[in-house]
Amino acid sequence: MRILVLGGAGYIGSHTVLQLVRAGEEVIVADNLSTGHIEAVPKEVIFYKGDIHDKAFLDDLFKAEHIDAVIHFAAFSLVGESVVKPLKYYDNNLCGTKVLLESMVEHGVDKIVFSSTAATYGEPENIPILETDRTLPTNPYGETKLAMEKMFYWTSLAHGLRYVSLRYFNACGADSTGSIGEAHDPESHLIPLILQVPNGRRESIAIFGTDYDTPDGTCIRDYIHVTDLAQAHILAVKYLANGNASDVFNLGNGVGYSVREVIETARKVTGHPIPAVESERRAGDPARLVASSEKARKVLGWNPCHDSLEEIISDAWNWHKNHPNVFGK
Ligand code: UFG
Repeated sequence: MRILVLGGAGYIGSHTVLQLVRAGEEVIVADNLSTGHIEAVPKEVIFYKGDIHDKAFLDDLFKAEHIDAVIHFAAFSLVGESVVKPLKYYDNNLCGTKVLLESMVEHGVDKIVFSSTAATYGEPENIPILETDRTLPTNPYGETKLAMEKMFYWTSLAHGLRYVSLRYFNACGADSTGSIGEAHDPESHLIPLILQVPNGRRESIAIFGTDYDTPDGTCIRDYIHVTDLAQAHILAVKYLANGNASDVFNLGNGVGYSVREVIETARKVTGHPIPAVESERRAGDPARLVASSEKARKVLGWNPCHDSLEEIISDAWNWHKNHPNVFGK
């Protein structure tokens, strides 16, 4: 299959590209490099620099390359930033995706897998969260992702395109070779922030809230290895290629770890004491987010196998200790 990966220079995108290359698929990457890193794109894939808002760019690409399916990662994904700059999120995640869909429909490209998020649920009613549970986002990021899902739904009914929406829980870890990993600027996610302490880039890690209704008072999240996420995208493309119907899947391990447990595991993995400072709650953080991924396991045959927190943090540490500042350094 010839697969176009939009946003293939980003964190989850680049890990998916690597897994696709390893699986022997033909991969074409397009990325505007606004947050992605060209160093993360394997040399053997065809690369186009361009933006999904640019209809002429997409049209030329679909004319030049035969594409069987698209995997779409080209979106902004920071919850906090989305609250401060909601229109940036509406513009990229919705307006950009609208242009992409127009071009796909015009060029007869009829299969797409795209990134959605646990943030579509907002404050969950049940744990573990099922795909059929209420979706009520509490920030513009989740709101734009839910609206994207709906745009795909209505477009699929009108134009016969089929899609898979993958709702990620907490993506983390790095490829086990240590060649690529997480590289956000500025960093805002728990595990890379913790690892900045043993890397000498921060003195301590802040624990956002210690009075949640959880066993140790800190928030519980479902941490899922980026390589397992990447695998799910490949299975989702195959699912569509086999003629199956559009659908939505949660991707998580189904196991929750508290912030304190994550810090403790990082201490074990790195051998560093990693001082923690108890701080105020961060606005908008639900106490618990844990996925039921039964549907992805049953329907897609997904089998996340890097599910130990220790392995996840070891792989992340292997990446961060060798790239403490920026990508490739
Ligand atoms: N946290 C800290 N200290 C920090 C950073 C984070 O205690 O310095 C806590 C947060 O409060 C949260 C947990 O660590 O309880 C995880 O925080 P992250 O920022 O790493 O991840 P989130 O759970 O906020 O975000 C994730 C995904 C989003 C997705 C969201 C769904 O990264 O894309 O889950 O709510 F939208």
